[in-house]
Amino acid sequence: MVDLKRRGRTISLVPTMGYLHEGHLSLIRLAKQYADFVVVSIFVNPLQFGPTEDLDAYPRDLERDRELCGSEGVDAVFYPSVKEMFPPGRTVFVEEEVISRRLEGECRPGHFMGVLTVVAKLLNIIQPDSAVFGKKDVQQLALIAKMVADLNIPVEIVAGDTVREPDGLAMSSRNRYLSEDEREEALCLRRSLLEAERLFAGGERDATVINEAMKAVIEQVPGARTDYAAVIDPSDWSPCENASCGDIVAAAIRIGKTRLIDNIVLGD
Ligand code: PAJ
Repeated sequence: MVDLKRRGRTISLVPTMGYLHEGHLSLIRLAKQYADFVVVSIFVNPLQFGPTEDLDAYPRDLERDRELCGSEGVDAVFYPSVKEMFPPGRTVFVEEEVISRRLEGECRPGHFMGVLTVVAKLLNIIQPDSAVFGKKDVQQLALIAKMVADLNIPVEIVAGDTVREPDGLAMSSRNRYLSEDEREEALCLRRSLLEAERLFAGGERDATVINEAMKAVIEQVPGARTDYAAVIDPSDWSPCENASCGDIVAAAIRIGKTRLIDNIVLGD
């Protein structure tokens, strides 16, 4: 990598946990617009999974991922082992203290410390000029941008749009956990966001009304539970009282054992 840089070539990194889908591939295509040399990392990061979460069940298919990377013209795939990334004895971690405490951070304590620590390590190992992340995980994207700014990490963070299935469900490696019925039920997540957008477009500005309407859409589906459904101020990720253009509407639901997240930006 250092050699490439010396020769004046730019590098873009697309960090993933593998089991690649069209969402990941869209980020790879975006990375190619930003750099001469595209690196995809594939690492199911144990540090970002809670003790009761799906680390062991998380889908993996390295061979298929490498083929997909090859057909997308990826220049290098970095797939370190857990031992390589986290040798015993580590005592330094990256922690953010405000945004990481909200929403996903509240539901998944320690999750963002795990994400930021591994992303900081990947950025240090690959030393890319840019790194591409998806808006599907918008809180993660905001935290990575904050880490890069606060720690003066010399990389440009590029954001890619959410890629959806034809019926609107955001693509996710976790969608494969869903049974046929659950797959149908999962659409309430997207419907709840569209309901928020519809209310806002109709002039509703009371965030409590919007949040409750989203919850009602989700809980019309007997198998669905709301972890959160909220209008958020993107400057500090606090819940809004009055919704305005540019605010983020984020929701997380559980369908059976599967947890799904999605978001939209109001007035987008
Ligand atoms: P993973 O869930 O594999 O996602 C890798 C990247 O793909 C993230 O930037 C995510 O936001 C993006 N992505 C996922 N689904 C998408 C979709 N439907 N449309 C567009 N982009 C999508 O996110 C992680 O892995 C990890 O937390 C990681 C950043 C790799 C750190 O371990």
